[in-house]
Amino acid sequence: MKIIHISAECYPVAKVGGLADVVGALPKYLNNSGEQAQVLMPFYNNKFTQNNKFKTLFTSEVFLGKTSYNVNILVLENTILDFDVFFIDIPDLLFKDYVYSFDDTERFLAFQIASLDWLLTWDTYPDIIHCHDHHTGLIPFMLQESFKYEAFRKTPNILTIHNAQYQGWFSHDKVDLIPPFNFNNVGLLDWGGQINPLAAGIKCAWRVTTVSPTYMEELKQNANGLEPLLSAESNKCIGILNGIDTEVWNPETDNYLVENYTIKTVNKGAKANKKYLCETFNLDISKPLIAFIGRLVHQKGTDLFPEIFKKALTNNNLNILLLGSGDTLVEQNLYELKTEFNGNYNAYIGYDEKLSHIIYAGADFLLMPSRVEPCGLNQMYSLRYGTIPIVTKIGGLKDTVTDIKEPNGFGICHNSTTIPEINEAINRAIELYTNQTKYKKLRTQIMKIDHSWHASAKQYIKLYNTIN
Ligand code: ADP
Ligand code: GLC
Repeated sequence: MKIIHISAECYPVAKVGGLADVVGALPKYLNNSGEQAQVLMPFYNNKFTQNNKFKTLFTSEVFLGKTSYNVNILVLENTILDFDVFFIDIPDLLFKDYVYSFDDTERFLAFQIASLDWLLTWDTYPDIIHCHDHHTGLIPFMLQESFKYEAFRKTPNILTIHNAQYQGWFSHDKVDLIPPFNFNNVGLLDWGGQINPLAAGIKCAWRVTTVSPTYMEELKQNANGLEPLLSAESNKCIGILNGIDTEVWNPETDNYLVENYTIKTVNKGAKANKKYLCETFNLDISKPLIAFIGRLVHQKGTDLFPEIFKKALTNNNLNILLLGSGDTLVEQNLYELKTEFNGNYNAYIGYDEKLSHIIYAGADFLLMPSRVEPCGLNQMYSLRYGTIPIVTKIGGLKDTVTDIKEPNGFGICHNSTTIPEINEAINRAIELYTNQTKYKKLRTQIMKIDHSWHASAKQYIKLYNTIN
């Protein structure tokens, strides 16, 4: 089957969060299973596009209402990725040094239209068009309703919801930017009086997936306003747990690490990485190191960190290291804490792929007290690197982490994102660390868990087959 993934992010080309990791790995695993998966994504102005050479396959223009923009379809000159990526270059809209911004309605609408225009020129159409998140949520609508894309009426499409918090809302005043369609069906675009690309995608896609089974269930109760829609459409919805790319995320071969290691050498290898972190960030190597990596946003519970960290650090029997960026106030509060707890706490405010890998390897525990977590990849990376996750029992975290109190348990879980519960979970982690025999045994146990994409890619193939 020929499967086209259309996405705003794809690792290693452009990454803001887990969406990039998924779109950067799933196609590879689909191809390894004998399918032919390719990716269509925007051409941004970033390190990847600056450091590589591209050639133009096709030039055209895209219309947003009456305004036209130049479009180039680009591909890499050298085969450096594991699958084909087609880049939609719209210099006036997409070629920026950021992925998301205030004018995303126009940017991603143009991206979606240009993507479909380009697919229309193909001799053989794809067997499946697989869209990701609200940035591509209008594609299922256009495939079904736009006069221009009648040729695609029988082309099956899927929408994967990575995060229903973000829906891409815009005003009906901009409806003319969407290529002409039967206006009797304008209601398909609407949710709560606005054009809602995610809702339109859910209504029109042939199948809707979420990135974990538990998140699918949770969305029926809590989906930022889309609960009734997801309940109504539940027959075509399915939760498929994300996997991880075990070639990129492999402590044995990971080039970013200070020292590589296997299950047999994890104690020594992880310690070398911890030593590097403690030296670089002025932390005490004799104490357990609890780390956080991620976006500093409400979803992740990070607004509670200043108070949680103060409580935990006052006991002075642990280190905390944070890598993240996001809400300015949270960034500022977490930065300021450095002075007060110098020697036991540090924060790198920013994005650093290399540092993230060293932290997964060198930390003793990874903290993820998310309020909402559609899947979460960090906990799976941390398991692979032998670092014990401390998580809220929700969404994909619930599907991937079992508390040490349970049979065969290996992580620390708390029920909700509250300060007392998170502090209690941190205390349980410190207590576990004092029992080094148990801690080390768990470390080797978690490294054996297989979260590679193999199993999940098979589920996607099964799903593709049901609609193709
Ligand atoms: P989300 O997509 O909600 O941000 P995920 O757990 O699915 O959460 O994926 C987050 C991805 O982004 C992981 O690969 C994580 O390592 C990475 N990441 C997040 N913040 C940073 C950061 N500041 N520096 C480096 N990597 C980061
Ligand atoms: C989203 C979710 C995260 C998920 C990722 C990849 O950004 O917040 O939980 O792991 O997408 O699917």
